Formats: sequence, structure tokens, C-alpha cells
Amino acid sequence: MVTTVASARVETLASSGIQSIPREYVRPQEELSSIVNVFEEEKKREGPQVPTIDIRDIASEDREVRAKAIEQLKAAAMDWGVMHLVNHGVSDDLIRRVKVAGEAFFQLPIEEKEKYANDQASGKIQGYGSKLANNASGQLEWEDYFFHLAYPEDKRDMSLWPTTPSDYIPATSEYAEELRALATKILSALSLALGLEEGRLEKEVGGLEELLLQMKINYYPKCPQPELALGVEAHTDVSALTFILHNMVPGLQLFYEGKWITAKCVPNSIIMHIGDTVEILSNGKFKSILHRGLVNKEKVRISWAVFCEPPKEKIILKPLPELISEAEPARFPPRTFAQHIQYKLFRKTQDVQAPVTN
Ligand SMILES: [Fe+2]
Repeated sequence: MVTTVASARVETLASSGIQSIPREYVRPQEELSSIVNVFEEEKKREGPQVPTIDIRDIASEDREVRAKAIEQLKAAAMDWGVMHLVNHGVSDDLIRRVKVAGEAFFQLPIEEKEKYANDQASGKIQGYGSKLANNASGQLEWEDYFFHLAYPEDKRDMSLWPTTPSDYIPATSEYAEELRALATKILSALSLALGLEEGRLEKEVGGLEELLLQMKINYYPKCPQPELALGVEAHTDVSALTFILHNMVPGLQLFYEGKWITAKCVPNSIIMHIGDTVEILSNGKFKSILHRGLVNKEKVRISWAVFCEPPKEKIILKPLPELISEAEPARFPPRTFAQHIQYKLFRKTQDVQAPVTN
């Protein structure tokens, strides 16, 4: 059930001067012990670190150079499923413009942003929004967001894109186009890494016409009790790939070898996640890592996530037959993308209702 609290903007709450957060934002007891000060965590230099992958050479003409670059990407995709991409080919200036435009949108008064509000109850999911409680506990996350489809062009609804600031549309359009090309490059390299034909994964996720790029700008206001809340709760991305920019305020944590690891802020990098879709196609060779977002008291955090998703119904996702053998049977049943999302929601509801049976 949707309560009034569930539809409030976190930004409104945060700027109201409250010293303690509403109970809907307080995480369950068992989760609280793992929530830490993100700035202190980000400073730590010991322990496992999210790998940094230089992808300048993954499309090199020189076969040896290319093979070496693909090997590094493969190792990171198998071990972590998340990495900082450097030399990704998207210009620093374009990234700066995307960030300036998104920040300017969120600096608009709330009433202005509300003009772009989504309406999840009626299925209008694009636009300005906040998470609605989707289970009996009413649990909420400390963030507002702006969400819209960014690519391909013929599937976009430009009436939903912000007209202020004026560079939002040009910057976001160009960025989506660049990321689409980057996605092809990465999918090609991952295909080769699996011993498949270069275009295989690209084709399996819908190709140029059907793969959807969804832009989600996450806005995490300062939180008076960051030790009790999460900006985004633990999840894996359902996408094929996700590309993330942020405003250099730490927050992302990865669940690696049984521990929460805080991602460092790497200048000029794009964070890339392997999502469930590629994990399924690769029969689990590539990993879709569990991750979450912390919030803090001192700085607003903004991140720009672009989810590259297969079409909801048109494609049945299942481990590619070449990757299955008697020794390595299929680890995932065939499901459409929509069915996969439903399955995850169902499983989560079960977890919430019967935590002791897990
Ligand atoms: Fe995510």
C-alpha cells in the first residue's frame, strides 16, 4: 500500500531540518552493523579493490595487444563483475556536460521538478520520482531520481526530458550515443573472451534496434543519520551492462568475498557493472555482483546510471548452448527479461515474509 510518506521526496525531508530519519528509512537491525562511514572507508588502501581496466586496446588491430586487453577485461568480469573503465573513449568534456546538466536539473526547486513527476501506480515509470515501498515493512531508500529511456532514438519520449537546463537534451543524447558504441565494444570483447563470435552477445541482447539504454540520475541528499539508512539497498542489476558516472562523492559498495568493499572515486573513469542478463547468457562465468549505496551527512551524492537492457518480452534469456556441457550444466532457466524481473521481485517478497527460513 502506498502511504503519504512513501510519495514524499527525500530532498524535502532532508531540507526540513530533521535530526532523526523516519522509521521507513531505518534499515533492519541485522543490516545496521555493516553500515559504516563512507568517507573513512573510501580512504582505506588495504584489502580487495574494484579493478581498474584500461580498454584502449580492446579493439586494437594488433592481435596480441587486443588479446591481452580482452584477457584483463575477462578476468575482471569473472572475478568482480564490476570495474572502473579508463580510456573508455567518452570525452571528458561530454562527461562534464552530462554532470553539469543533471546537477542543474536537481538544483531546480522541487515544484519545478514535480512537473516531471512519474506515476508508478499507473505504469508511467519515466520521470522524477522516489522509491515506493514494495513490501509490508514499508522500507524506503534515501534517494530521489530522474529516469527515462535514452536510446534508441525512435523509442525515446522527448516530452519527458527536462528542457531546463538547455544542455540537458543535447548532452544526454550525445552521451547515450557514445555509451551505445561503448556497449558494443564491451559486448564484442566479452563474446571473444567466451570463445564466441564477436557479435554474439550483442545479438543476444537485442542489437542496435532492441537494446534499450535507460538513464537514471540518482540524487542522494545529505542524511542526518547515515549510519541507519541506505541510498540504494543491496541488489544486482538486471541489465546486460550498466555504466555509471558520479560526482566524486563515495557511496557505492560491492559485496566481494563476503564483505562490503567501498569503491574508490577514480577520476575520469566510468564504472561498469556486468548485469544479470550477461551473467545468465554466460552461464555464470561473468558475475553480476551484489551492490548497494551508502549515504552521508556532509555531501549530496549524485550518480548517473545507464542501464543497457534487452527488450522485456522479445528475447528468451538463457545460458548460451556453446557454454553448456555435462560438466557445466545450465545454471539458469530460460526466462524473458520481464520474467526475470518478476522472479527477483517474488523472491524478495518471500525473503521479507519468511526471513528465518533462509
Ligand atoms: Fe545497481
